[in-house]
Amino acid sequence: MCGIVGYAGTAEAGVQSLDVVLEGLRRLEYRGYDSAGVALQSGGELVWAKRSGKLARLEEALQEQPLPAATTGIGHTRWATHGGPTDGNAHPHLGGDGRVAVIHNGIIENFAALKNELTADGVVFASQTDTEVAAHLLARAYAGTSDLVEAMRVVARRLEGAFTLLAVHADVPDTVVAARRNSPLVVGLGEGANYLGSDVAAFIGHTREAIEMGQDQVVVITPHSVEITDFDGHPAEGKAYHVDWDAAAAEKGGFDSFMAKEISEQPHAVADTLLGRTDAAGRLVLDELHVDEALLRHIDKIVVVACGTAAYAGSVARYAIEHWCRIPCEVELAHEFRYRDPVVNDRTLVVAISQSGETMDTIMAIRHAREQGARVVAICNTQGSTIPRESDAALYTHAGPEIAVASTKAFLAQITACYLLGLYLAQLRGNKFADEVAEILGQLHAMPEKIQSVLDAMEPVRRMARSMADTRSVLFLGRHVGYPVAMEGALKLKEIAYIHAEGFAAGELKHGPIALIEPGLPVFVIVPSPRSRDSLHAKVVSNIQEINARGARTIVIAEEGDDEVVPFASEVIRVPATPTLLAPLVTVVPLQIFACELATAKGLDVDQPRNLAKSVTVE
Ligand code: G6P
Repeated sequence: MCGIVGYAGTAEAGVQSLDVVLEGLRRLEYRGYDSAGVALQSGGELVWAKRSGKLARLEEALQEQPLPAATTGIGHTRWATHGGPTDGNAHPHLGGDGRVAVIHNGIIENFAALKNELTADGVVFASQTDTEVAAHLLARAYAGTSDLVEAMRVVARRLEGAFTLLAVHADVPDTVVAARRNSPLVVGLGEGANYLGSDVAAFIGHTREAIEMGQDQVVVITPHSVEITDFDGHPAEGKAYHVDWDAAAAEKGGFDSFMAKEISEQPHAVADTLLGRTDAAGRLVLDELHVDEALLRHIDKIVVVACGTAAYAGSVARYAIEHWCRIPCEVELAHEFRYRDPVVNDRTLVVAISQSGETMDTIMAIRHAREQGARVVAICNTQGSTIPRESDAALYTHAGPEIAVASTKAFLAQITACYLLGLYLAQLRGNKFADEVAEILGQLHAMPEKIQSVLDAMEPVRRMARSMADTRSVLFLGRHVGYPVAMEGALKLKEIAYIHAEGFAAGELKHGPIALIEPGLPVFVIVPSPRSRDSLHAKVVSNIQEINARGARTIVIAEEGDDEVVPFASEVIRVPATPTLLAPLVTVVPLQIFACELATAKGLDVDQPRNLAKSVTVE
C-alpha cells in the first residue's frame, strides 16, 4: 500500500520539511512501493520531484536538482494500482495550473466518470492514475472558494471508494490538508510541528503522540494547530493515543510479525479487491480486462496455472467458475503444465495467478500457453510485474504489498478476484441473470465483515496453537471448497512451523490416509455449511466420526449453529454462516492464525522461514 507523509513545521525549528518527509518515507518503505515523490510549499511556490523505482533514485534526482528550503511538505511512496509504475504516474499529481499538489492512497471508484467529465471540460491529464482526478477537482474547487480546507471537503464529497488524500497549495503557507475514507491516516502531534502519516511509522522519529482519524474526516495541520471536521465542515474528533512501540514494532503496526499483521488486514484486502468493479447500473465491469468479449464468449475451457498458495486459490476458484459459468476448469501447477503437453488452443482461457507476478514457473507456463494460441488473463498483486505484462489482460488484486513469505492476505484477494472473473464470465455468457450476479456480489461484499468477526474470535485458536508447539504431525481434511482450504492449512504449517502436515480430500480418507490416524493425532476438519447441497455436510460429519472413533484429536471448523459436529469434536472453531462457494474466505483464517501462532510459540522467524523465498524467480 502507498506510504504517505505530511509535515508542517516552522523556520525557527531549523528543520527542513524535505528531510522530515524523506525520513518518514524511508520508515514506510516496509509497505513496499514502486515509485516515490515529494512536494514542498516554499515562499508562495510549489516545488516537487518524483521518480519511479526506489527512494534512492528520488534522492539522487534531488541531489542533482535540489529543491529550495521549505518547512511544509508531503511525500509519497506509490504501490501502483491505476497505471504502471512510471515517473509520470508517481505522486504527487498537480491540479489546474500546477499550484496544488496531491498525494493519494486508495482507489477512487468513480474516477472514470469524473475523468470523462473533466476531459469534456478541457482538462488534459498527464498520467493514467485515478489520483490526478482528485488533483484537478481540488484545483477547481479552490479556484471557487479560495479556501483549501473547504475545497478538500468539496472534493471528498464527490469521490467514491477508498482514499487518503493529502494536499499542499502554493498560495497556502504552513498548511497540509488531508481527507480520509476507508483508508488509513494518522496525525502526529509535535512541538511547533505536526505530522500526517499512513501509519505512525511515518513520524515515530519525532513524536509518539498521535490521533487516529475517523471515517469521512478532513484534517488540516499547521505548525501549531490540528483541526478535524467531517466532510460537511462540522467539527469532529479523532481518537488520541500514545504510541509506545519502537520503530520496528511501528512498522508491524504493533503485531509480532508481518504475517500476523497481514492476516489482520484480510478484510481490507478483500474489500479493496472488490472496489470499483460495478457500473452505475450495478453490473459487474472489469475495466482492466481488455480481452475481446466475443472471444471470452467462445472459450470452451479454462486452465488455471499457479504455484503454492496461488494454486490453492485457483483450486477454490474452480468450484465457483464451473458452477457459475458451466465451463470446464482445470487447475495445474505451473511447473507441471508445459511438460505434459497440455491440450490448449485459441478457445482456451489460461488464468495465471501470482502475488508477485515474477514466479518463473508461472511465467514459463503462460509463455507456453500463448504459443499454443491460448488467451492469458493474469490475476496479480503487483502492477507492472512480468506476468501481467506478458498476459493478454490482467485483473489486479488490491491486497497491498505482502511482506511475510507465507502468503495470507494475497490468498484471500486472489480468491476474491477469481470469483469476480467467474461472475463476469457468467454474466457475459448469459449463464447468470443480472439479478443473480448482483446477489452474489452482495454476498461477496458482506465477506469482509465476516472475516473480521472470525479474526475477533481467534483467542482460543491462539491458545490451542501455543499449547501444541511440540506437535510432530497434523492432518487437514476438507471436501469440495474445503479441500483446497485443507491443503492451504497444511502448507502454512509446513512453511512456517516446520511441522509435517498433510491436507486431504475428506472422501479420500478411507482410501489410505486413515491408516495414519492414531490416538491424539490433531486433525483439522473443515466442515461445509449444513445448508450446502448433495449431503456434503453429512458426509463430512461421518468422516469426523470415523477419525474420532480412532482416537484422533478432532479440531472442527464449522458454521455457527451447526450442532451436529459437536459430539465428535475435541474442539470446535466457529465461523459465520456463508454461501458454500464463498466459505474459504472465512474457513482458512483460523488455519493461518494457528500456523502463525504455533510458529511464534516455537520461537521461529515467522516472516522469513528457512529455505523459502517470497518470489521464486528461477525454475
Ligand atoms: C513462493 C512463495 C509462496 C507463493 C508462491 C507463488 O513459493 O513462498 O508463498 O505462494 O511462491 O508465488 P506468487 O508470487 O506467484 O503468488
